[in-house]
Amino acid sequence: ATAFERALESLRAGEPVLVHDAADREGETDLIYHADAVTPEAVAQLRNDAGGLVCVALSHDIAEAFDLPFYTEEVDHPAAADHELGYDERSSFSLTVNHRDTYTGITDADRSLTIRALGEAAAEPQETTFADEFRVPGHVHLLKAAPGLLGQREGHTELGLALAGAADLQPAVVVCEMLDDETGEALTPVDARAYANRHDLVYLEGRDVLERLG
Ligand code: 5RP
Ligand code: CA
Ligand code: ZN
Ligand code: ZN
Repeated sequence: ATAFERALESLRAGEPVLVHDAADREGETDLIYHADAVTPEAVAQLRNDAGGLVCVALSHDIAEAFDLPFYTEEVDHPAAADHELGYDERSSFSLTVNHRDTYTGITDADRSLTIRALGEAAAEPQETTFADEFRVPGHVHLLKAAPGLLGQREGHTELGLALAGAADLQPAVVVCEMLDDETGEALTPVDARAYANRHDLVYLEGRDVLERLG
């Protein structure tokens, strides 16, 4: 099987995949899980091995069904007026959330509860009253995908959700940047590949995904 096909199998099996976006974009490799598969142990891996920001990406439609805006649309502060990103036209950040059954929201158990509940909510948006289940602000960052997914934006938000869709999974994935513990910089593609090999995980380049799903 190709790396792309093995990546879909991994996500279906509840295992993470690594996706590097592009050298001329963020130049980051995110560790990506389907939301349903995020146990407390997976959160520990995300914070210890990846080390970036733990985010849940939702499709545009699901985010709209839950009335979740882009962060910059709702915050009336001059610092939110101009995104000025070096690598894209806009960020995909939405709100931050905790499930209402969490205590502080930050522990591995709490974040895994929030993340898996987001996966369940994405599976049945009709049966979900978002505000009854989640509180804002929280310790899990939500990301809202572009409506046209990879046709409009080529971020990890869209790459992860496109992979979930191709794997026939609900549109809710966790993404977290892999950082280098020594340098503090993004983990290089060479080192990200080495991590994938050590842990028997699939590593994909964004262009591998774009060729199949873009
Ligand atoms: C949030 C981010 C990450 O890069 C994440 O991958 C989502 O962003 P994008 O879709 O722009 O790649 O900055 O931690
Ligand atoms: Ca670490
Ligand atoms: Zn990214
Ligand atoms: Zn990033």
